[in-house]
Amino acid sequence: MSRLDVRALLATKRDGGRIADADVEAFVAAYTAGEVPDYQASALLMAIFIHGMEDAELAVLTRAMLHSGDVFDFSELDGPKVDKHSTGGIGDKVSIPLAPAVAACGAFVPMISGRGLGHTGGTLDKLEAIPGFRTGLEPAEFRRVLVKTGLALGGQTADLVPADRKLYALRDVTGLIESIPLITSSILSKKLAEGIDALVLDVKFGSGAFLTDPARGAELARTMVRIAGECGVRATAFQTNMARPLGREIGNASEINESLACLRGEGPADLRELVCLQGGELLRLVGLADDRAEGEAKVAASLDDGRAFERFVQLTAEQGGDAACLEGGLDLTGKTETLCADRAGYLAWCDLRAMGLAVGELGGGRKQLGDEIDPGVGLTILADEGCQLGAGDPILRVHHRAGRGLDAARAKLQASFELCDEPIEPTPLLLD
Ligand code: URA
Repeated sequence: MSRLDVRALLATKRDGGRIADADVEAFVAAYTAGEVPDYQASALLMAIFIHGMEDAELAVLTRAMLHSGDVFDFSELDGPKVDKHSTGGIGDKVSIPLAPAVAACGAFVPMISGRGLGHTGGTLDKLEAIPGFRTGLEPAEFRRVLVKTGLALGGQTADLVPADRKLYALRDVTGLIESIPLITSSILSKKLAEGIDALVLDVKFGSGAFLTDPARGAELARTMVRIAGECGVRATAFQTNMARPLGREIGNASEINESLACLRGEGPADLRELVCLQGGELLRLVGLADDRAEGEAKVAASLDDGRAFERFVQLTAEQGGDAACLEGGLDLTGKTETLCADRAGYLAWCDLRAMGLAVGELGGGRKQLGDEIDPGVGLTILADEGCQLGAGDPILRVHHRAGRGLDAARAKLQASFELCDEPIEPTPLLLD
């Protein structure tokens, strides 16, 4: 390893140059170990934000972050290892039915997920709506569940990619989140630490997405696919619509219920389409299907014949959850209010971010680190984008807990849709 000269490295990047591989590696190791202060790391992140990174340089950064802590090795398992990652959105519960469906088709799915962030929900919070379900698995238990059921759904441990934990926290307070190389290295270092062979990336666009602009999303998608390839992992990215909610349920318990419907071969068509498409592509990437259509058919069959549901029941029991309650579904609060059209018109969703924040107001998300989440609150979508409504027709049902946060949620929800005089075309689920 080179002897690290942090000031020289910063000057190189400040002037738009490429940092030597050994210096990138030494910097990540030293920062993770606490030997480089936050102000120097912030300066480097800012320079990367402004100048970007060459692919080869970004691949070195990603690998250095990935190896900053424990890396799973599941090579002894008899089958390919796969995962998917979504940049997150409103009602996006695809991972929950996809993981057991793909496992039922012969792949192992060691899925490390996150919690709700800002206006978006998180897979871990949704899973924890199942009474007893534990997501804080230590590596040995994560492996045991994976071997037994073909999938394991857990959260990031302290020893997995510690470099990203520190760098992400620093980016968060220095306004440096929205950078394509920094997002790429952050997401891929965590996913690749799972020891996977293939990855599907779901990059959302639209008002509820993290990057709203489809052109920026496309750049992120292409960069992540290239860098995953440089790191030896086959990857495909899809750009999918977050200008409208996915499925009809938004909330932790209600999204589990909608996922259970999908796992039984029922539920909303858009959710099923993404589960089959992305799951089918994973099967293709690892040779469990000859082409995507065959992969999609295999995933669909696992949903329709009960194998995917059975896997999820097994997984729930192994992770300490009450599997019996999956049959009847999880309880919501039982208290609802319906928002209706105040005039006739065609329904357009306009600010999905506001919709996600409304769920937070009801108690379904965190305003501060450590806030308790109420799994039973949320929203049910009662009208489709573009449909023609008369005055008084229902649009959204709000599930609230004794009125908590209801006024604030109502105000945000009013901003999330509008009624237009002219017909509007529903927006496509997928971009080419
Ligand atoms: N999610 C991540 O894990 N990292 C980012 O940088 C952005 C979103």
